[in-house]
Amino acid sequence: MTLAGKKVVVVGGSSGIGLATAELAKSEGADVVIASRSAAKLDPVAERLKVTAILADVTSDQSVGELFKRTGPVDHVVLTAAQLRTGPFKSVAMEDVRATMEGKFWGAWRVAREAGIRPGGSLTLVTGFLSVRPRPNSAIISAANGALESLARALALELAPVRVNAVSPGVIDTPIRAAMPEAARKEMLAKTAAALPVGRIGMAEDIAQQIVSFMNNGFATGAIVYIDGGALVN
Ligand SMILES: NC(=O)c1ccc[n+]([C@@H]2O[C@H](COP(=O)([O-])OP(=O)(O)OC[C@H]3O[C@@H](n4cnc5c(N)ncnc54)[C@H](OP(=O)(O)O)[C@@H]3O)[C@@H](O)[C@H]2O)c1
Repeated sequence: MTLAGKKVVVVGGSSGIGLATAELAKSEGADVVIASRSAAKLDPVAERLKVTAILADVTSDQSVGELFKRTGPVDHVVLTAAQLRTGPFKSVAMEDVRATMEGKFWGAWRVAREAGIRPGGSLTLVTGFLSVRPRPNSAIISAANGALESLARALALELAPVRVNAVSPGVIDTPIRAAMPEAARKEMLAKTAAALPVGRIGMAEDIAQQIVSFMNNGFATGAIVYIDGGALVN
């Protein structure tokens, strides 16, 4: 029970990597709060895990402010919330790329500013391997992830003694690809798995383990850890 007596807030905790993190933190004894926009997603998870749910939208200054007013001081904060809109660089709508930054980058900025993290506690941002391994049609995601990694390193200095780290996942099987046709999603995941040194696709729990390790390791700050099944050495 490495997190007994600790308060952990997972923004984006209703799904995927955030949900797995909330579940692992709870099993380690933490008092867990999950936050996201949709009550329909949050409430069943909160009931199953026996954690607290708070509605919040990271694209709103006011909503993020209210979230951390309601939680009060906390020990660890994790931000997995993101909704990514991308497309070919020359034709993707400015509205879409701005919305991507508004959630993923400015959302992290707002959370870092508003969260009352106790000294020695931690903030973990979730970036993504496209920052260092770009792919066509996703320049905005590469840029958002790169900016977040720089932000994590800068905040490790400015928010000390609060520790700030980032985990950068490779391809992880989560509901983030729910909009893809099922056959295409399965084919993409199988192809990716076959090409990776580990021979399998990532699971949300693989990333949750790293996030909880950042909470527990008092010497970890300013770190960017790539958990990608070997994608970067491939
Ligand atoms: N899965 C991958 O392959 C992969 C790879 C690299 C990086 N990542 C990154 O990992 C992070 C988590 O991804 P995931 O796969 O776990 O995604 P996911 O399963 O889609 O979960 C995203 C979570 O964020 C919440 N959310 C979205 N927009 C929000 C907003 N404006 N305010 C508050 N909450 C919001 C969602 O809940 P509501 O809809 O209720 O708000 C949901 O709980 C993202 O930053 C993603 O870019 C994922």
